[in-house]
Amino acid sequence: MAKEVKTIGVLTSGGDAPGMNAAIRAVVRSAIHKGLKVKGIMRGYAGLLQEEIVDMDTTSVSDIMHRGGTILYTARCAEFTTAEGQELGAEICRKNGIDGIVVIGGDGSFRGAGKLAALGINTIGVPGTIDLDVACTDYTIGFDTAVNTAMEAIDKVRDTSTSHERCSIIEVMGRNAGYIALWCGFANGAEDVLLPERYDGDEQGLINRIIDNRKRGKRHNIIINAEGIGHSVSMARRIEAATGIETRATILGHMQRGGTPTCKDRVYASIMGAKAAMLLAEGKSNRVVAYKNGEYMDLDIQEALSMKKDIPEDQYEIFKMLVR
Ligand code: ADP
Ligand code: F6P
Repeated sequence: MAKEVKTIGVLTSGGDAPGMNAAIRAVVRSAIHKGLKVKGIMRGYAGLLQEEIVDMDTTSVSDIMHRGGTILYTARCAEFTTAEGQELGAEICRKNGIDGIVVIGGDGSFRGAGKLAALGINTIGVPGTIDLDVACTDYTIGFDTAVNTAMEAIDKVRDTSTSHERCSIIEVMGRNAGYIALWCGFANGAEDVLLPERYDGDEQGLINRIIDNRKRGKRHNIIINAEGIGHSVSMARRIEAATGIETRATILGHMQRGGTPTCKDRVYASIMGAKAAMLLAEGKSNRVVAYKNGEYMDLDIQEALSMKKDIPEDQYEIFKMLVR
């Protein structure tokens, strides 16, 4: 029988993502609309274990929609990956009258949510990560803003790269996922993308393509390198030495995680956040809200975590076909 839920908590966990505030706002306001009380848990699971819990009402989430980051702050918490940490977290929920939690984050955060659900705290995950690397969903909150931020920055680097007839290695975020890199590859008309899922380490091949591009009259070479491959500065040095073309590295870094969220991120975050609160209000637990094949849906956390996602091969092939 579904447990009656009267008070829910909301937390953000893992890397922050633009749009998380819109999701928090939606969770709080929809839960209140459904007659639930809402508490904000600060700093993800770390704040839960420290009992950093605050009451929230509809005005706590006023004027945050357009702000990057997360008003609840976020953290990574090694203690919560242990059985003792998870039991302590569940105990703190019970002590504070928290029957259910919306966890806004990525796969790691959902693993934690699954553990809390097993300990009797109803949990719902909402995918929030700039990396787009949550397999169960076609959309993750923050990706659209991050990729637009990266695209605009790369346009600027391209201007100076062209003026100086240089090669530019531009590193974008994505430790394990190349979605930002591939999308910027398309959107910025890059000469090459190095994706964690695809790069075979063939630097000589890359060097040969750069030399060939120059011979064919290209003024610049924009190479987008995902964080997971990294080493952009030393790569730039080696490419300059091997090609004779001045080469610079630019690491875009955490600027990609900040900034005012795009319309798309605000809207998806609002709908996903509201759906999560409504699932808790219905007594559901151990679910992840997702957007798949044009529809919002929810699925079991373990099922979601067992799914695999990869860069679509046809998209990668099309990217390469468009480089001329
Ligand atoms: P993301 O949620 O973006 O994937 P992380 O992988 O850093 O980010 O995970 C965020 C937090 O979720 C971790 O710091 C930890 O507290 C919690 N977490 C990750 N994996 C587990 C796990 N296997 N069991 C319990 N909690 C976990
Ligand atoms: O938000 C996702 C992400 O950008 C990953 O691509 C990257 O591995 C990670 O965050 C780095 O986060 P931090 O520097 O905060 O540890």
